[in-house]
Amino acid sequence: MNVITLLDGDLMTKRVVIITVLVLIVIIGIAIYAWSLYPQQVGKRVLRVGTSPDFPPFEYIDEKTGEVIGIDIDLIKALAKKLGCEVQIVQMDFDGLIPALLNKQIDVIASGMTITEERAQKVAFTIPYWRADQAILVRKDSPFAPRDLDDLVGKTVAVQSGTTAQFLLEDYINKTGNKINIKAYPSYVLAVQDLENGNVDAVLVDSPVASMFEKARNVKITGIVVTNENYGLAVRKEDRELLDKLNNALKEFLNSTEWQAILQKYLGG
Ligand code: ARG
Repeated sequence: MNVITLLDGDLMTKRVVIITVLVLIVIIGIAIYAWSLYPQQVGKRVLRVGTSPDFPPFEYIDEKTGEVIGIDIDLIKALAKKLGCEVQIVQMDFDGLIPALLNKQIDVIASGMTITEERAQKVAFTIPYWRADQAILVRKDSPFAPRDLDDLVGKTVAVQSGTTAQFLLEDYINKTGNKINIKAYPSYVLAVQDLENGNVDAVLVDSPVASMFEKARNVKITGIVVTNENYGLAVRKEDRELLDKLNNALKEFLNSTEWQAILQKYLGG
């Protein structure tokens, strides 16, 4: 008798119970929805990073392990960690990187890529993290000592296909009408090999990379063409959120001791 009176009578209590249940359902619903988004957005999202590993010290193959290593690789891994992402390195030729990004085969380009106006029409670049010029390499024993592009007229010069080195030579040829024979390779390692083998007269390549080849291979730098290039990471233009996150992480990282340690590891001294 008592119980029935309570259930029937206490309308207030009924309302409180119903409202509480409804609020709980809404909260649980929101929680489930948020949880479903979490893995792709921040949790364990995998960042597919495209790179052309023929470009020491930025990206190259570790001869002992066969793994891709270098400044760019350590850099993107550190940034991804800040973003809560995992990194998957995808190797491809340099001239395939922007198409692969646009086709969504990769999410980020980390490949010593110079920020240029033409490229920035297709992809979005982060703030710069490195500066470089172009260097002319010849065989170590060679008497040929080109100091600038004029000295390369009439010669065969190797570059990697789709690089700023190739564009620089093409612009020079168009502007001056002078003739330089450009030989474009899928990788800079192959270009340097062909120089060592005597199949080309010189290689034009970014200055920090030329210094590494000079140390490791039978080639030497004879001239620098000041181009003032800045390297950036690249993402799809519509990936604004990723770009903002990368930029924030990069700004912070460039002032860190961790960045100094990476440079020390790959550049020494
Ligand atoms: N900085 C030059 C460019 O953007 C060359 C980059 C080549 N990078 C590479 N990983 N092979 O064109």
